Amino acid sequence: MADEVVHREQWGSRIGLILAMAGNAVGLGNFLRFPVQATENGGGTFMIPYFIAFLLVGIPLMWIEWGVGRHGGERGHGSTPGMLEALWHHPVAKYLGVLGLFMPIIVLIYYCYIESWTLAWTFFSLTGATQGLDEAGMRAFFGSYVNLQNGTVHGFWTPFIFFFITIAVNFWVVSHGLTRGIERLAKIGMPLLFIFAAILVVRVLTLGDQTVMVNGVATTSSPLAGLDFMYSPDWSKLTDPSVWLAATGQIFFTLSVGMGSLAAYASYLRKTDDIALSGIATAATNETAEVVLGGSLAIPAVVAFFGVSGAVAIASGGSFDLGFIAMPLVFNQLPGGAIIQSAAGFMWFGLLFFAGITSSVAMSTPVLSFVEENWGWTRKQTAWTLGAIAVAIGILHIVYNTRGFLDEWDYWAGTFGLVVLALVETVLFVWVFGPEKMWAELHHGAQIRIPRFYKFILTYVTPTFLIIMMLWWFKEDALPTLLMADETPERSVVRWASRGVMLVILVLQLLLIRAAWKRRRLAGKEVA
Ligand code: TRP
Repeated sequence: MADEVVHREQWGSRIGLILAMAGNAVGLGNFLRFPVQATENGGGTFMIPYFIAFLLVGIPLMWIEWGVGRHGGERGHGSTPGMLEALWHHPVAKYLGVLGLFMPIIVLIYYCYIESWTLAWTFFSLTGATQGLDEAGMRAFFGSYVNLQNGTVHGFWTPFIFFFITIAVNFWVVSHGLTRGIERLAKIGMPLLFIFAAILVVRVLTLGDQTVMVNGVATTSSPLAGLDFMYSPDWSKLTDPSVWLAATGQIFFTLSVGMGSLAAYASYLRKTDDIALSGIATAATNETAEVVLGGSLAIPAVVAFFGVSGAVAIASGGSFDLGFIAMPLVFNQLPGGAIIQSAAGFMWFGLLFFAGITSSVAMSTPVLSFVEENWGWTRKQTAWTLGAIAVAIGILHIVYNTRGFLDEWDYWAGTFGLVVLALVETVLFVWVFGPEKMWAELHHGAQIRIPRFYKFILTYVTPTFLIIMMLWWFKEDALPTLLMADETPERSVVRWASRGVMLVILVLQLLLIRAAWKRRRLAGKEVA
């Protein structure tokens, strides 16, 4: 009975599926994380390890997740515990799959918190709240929001309210199910996102020369100087391991691979649906959104008005300073008056919101499927229960964010963990399931033939690359982070507490898996 074919919900249309998958991948990572990563890691040179990682792990993992997901979905599994067991009939497989429940939920909660800022700033742009502020004013405005102080237009409760609305919208969408919820959101959100981004890119790139004050001296800058700066190569960076880790990390995060969430979406494919071409189409859409649109927005805009040194200073403060402080300052300087400035801000934060929500609904999918399939809950019940849990835990982020609570989750579940699950998925699909079966699975219903050398890449290069990266990452980054070398005692306490909360969630999920398999055994379903 392990191969019994189960009838599950399915995607409504090919275009809906591709938009939902692209929505999954295209997120805040494309517009906020990428420009900062590229700027800080050698600019043009960054693109070399970035592109190599895309070819050797990004594209292969895209196919692997689609393959693992569709194969598991046919057997009734919408999340990695069951999917991995379908590949490897061993009692341990389902527990390895906990990563595909744990990471998406952890990331979901803090990602929605950031998403709620984009919603808040969409609103602030419309009301003109940030208009006329100078750099110090903008920093104070942002700072008072994240530190829960009363600002000029927002009070202590405002961040909680926007977070609550964000979670409610997310779970309202998913409560409508796959086609009427997620697919419909993608069909509206993705085109809007691309239109907003395209309009902003044209506006930014046609800004022309601007006079900027650098250390009190008037100089000329322009958006093209920004592109030039972002892509000017620094060859010495090519031999710096941290640049390779950053590039690989960005590829993982931006494509959403190594989380089990693409696999969850793929579990709703039909057996005969194409994987080979759709997987590539998703990856290509994401890269276009990232390199062409994401790369042409924030950095060129900020360089035009602040010069290269000003942009570097802001980008070194991280993605959020760039997106929530520098960009509104740019909009304040746009010619055309208050209405144009409001519209630009509305489009920038609106595009971030759509990029965010089409990703966050994807993060909730594995856990929703897991609960529905094992306990027979309806989608509505599951969605609202999970939403309530997300609100409760999210409050910790709102309160402790500035003391490193969020960074811990981002590091373990949003950075290091991705490589671990990617490695597990790859080893099980390619080696345990077997290279021949893997290749046949990817080509079942395929509309293109994958070039033959990719079989070699999938079988040998991708796993080797992942193993090297994981070990290297562990030594260079994870171990020092784990030990929290130079951290103030006050922040250490918060970060340890943050880890404690994650650990509790992980253990609870392991227990849920055990309980689910017990139920299955009682129900007479074959389990490993
Ligand atoms: N790819 C998303 C972005 O660029 C972030 C992300 C990482 C994600 N893992 C995911 C989205 C899993 C959905 C599911 O912002």
